[in-house]
Amino acid sequence: MRVLVVGGGAREHAICNAISESDAELYSFMKNANPGIKRMAKDYMLHDERDVEKVLSYALDKKIDLVVIGPEAPEEAGVADALQKHSIPVASPTKAAAEIETNKEFMRSLMEKHSIPGNVRCRAFSSVDMAQEFIEMLDGEVAVKPLGLTGGKGVKLAGDHFHTIREAVAYAGEVIEREIGGAHKVLIEEKIVGEEFTLQAFCDGSTIYPMPSVQDHKRLLPGDRGPNTGGMGSYSHRSGLLPFMQPSDYEEAATILQKIIEALKREGREYRGTIYGQFMLTGDGVKVVEINARFGDPEAMNVLPLLKTNFVDICMAMVEGSLSRKRIAFDKKSTVCKYVVPQGYGVKSEAGKEIRVDEEAIQRAGGLLFYASVNEENGKIYTTTSRSLAVVGIADEITEAEIICERCLQHVSGDIFIRHDIGTQELLERRISHMAMLRG
Ligand code: GLY
Repeated sequence: MRVLVVGGGAREHAICNAISESDAELYSFMKNANPGIKRMAKDYMLHDERDVEKVLSYALDKKIDLVVIGPEAPEEAGVADALQKHSIPVASPTKAAAEIETNKEFMRSLMEKHSIPGNVRCRAFSSVDMAQEFIEMLDGEVAVKPLGLTGGKGVKLAGDHFHTIREAVAYAGEVIEREIGGAHKVLIEEKIVGEEFTLQAFCDGSTIYPMPSVQDHKRLLPGDRGPNTGGMGSYSHRSGLLPFMQPSDYEEAATILQKIIEALKREGREYRGTIYGQFMLTGDGVKVVEINARFGDPEAMNVLPLLKTNFVDICMAMVEGSLSRKRIAFDKKSTVCKYVVPQGYGVKSEAGKEIRVDEEAIQRAGGLLFYASVNEENGKIYTTTSRSLAVVGIADEITEAEIICERCLQHVSGDIFIRHDIGTQELLERRISHMAMLRG
């Protein structure tokens, strides 16, 4: 079987690893030359992943039997729709189904229309005066969100990015006027406080199979300080829960995802592929922060290495609608993933700097290496402006996995930055006590 993966980040490197454990032949379509994927693939094409016609002609030319799309941008461009029109199976959502991520107003109104729990008070505005009234009604305790994709950099939050109602209104006006996120509109949501967690699930249009939960760390600096990033690292626990979660929290999140899938189906937007709920565990239960139409990055690197079931078989079950008949299992291990990023990342990345990676030493130290946005030239690895690579430690306990991860990171050097506190006992205890305080 010939499987094509669209995307060239660390998440897609993890997807390619999972595929290469089957006897499928791997093909890749990516905008950057990911060294890990390049090595694994039978063939690859370097090109803009949103170029629908190019992905389609590459897939037809290589007689591809199955496609997995990693990032959201090619989904929004309609890559899955074009492939399906030519009868090529795709284990990722169509443009209409992916609107659950690519249009935040659609996501919130779908939840409201179908009375799905976990929604928050929110409204979309194209008038800044009306947005101001709503922001004032919520005492300025709001999240200001562009409706569409902004590469994770468009959302601004009271207390973090602005401190007054005036600043919130000014940013709302900027989103409307400059059409940030692709629409002359802004979404204002009440700010929710708690501990964030990710729940990813396989989905075949009707049924979901939820994976172990993961916590990502968006802030650049230790102690959750500094600017928001694409994610500096993440951890998971062998129980499938996070240390601050109860089983009922996991069930609540899984139920929300299941109801979203059912609502999408009723709306004629059947969702097949991996779905990813970004949730906030609050003192008042589980709330939806956003829903994404893909694996999380870095969260894919926590769960995919634990998958005991053949990933290609799962993808086919998602395509064929037979997930409920499939037995899926994950290794009961804990994981810690830390990203290596260029110096200056999150503010002004130092691109074009060499990173030295001793792959064999990382392997000997027991960790996994996933390349992200780097360039390989003459056998040397160079940074770009985005995250460079990720290292994952796997063990029974989170703190053991963290030690393995750190041991491996000693074999990566250059002008790099790493958030070393991810997965440490101290940070885990802070999460637990924060949640205990919120639950009263
Ligand atoms: N974990 C952040 C993202 O994948 O969007």
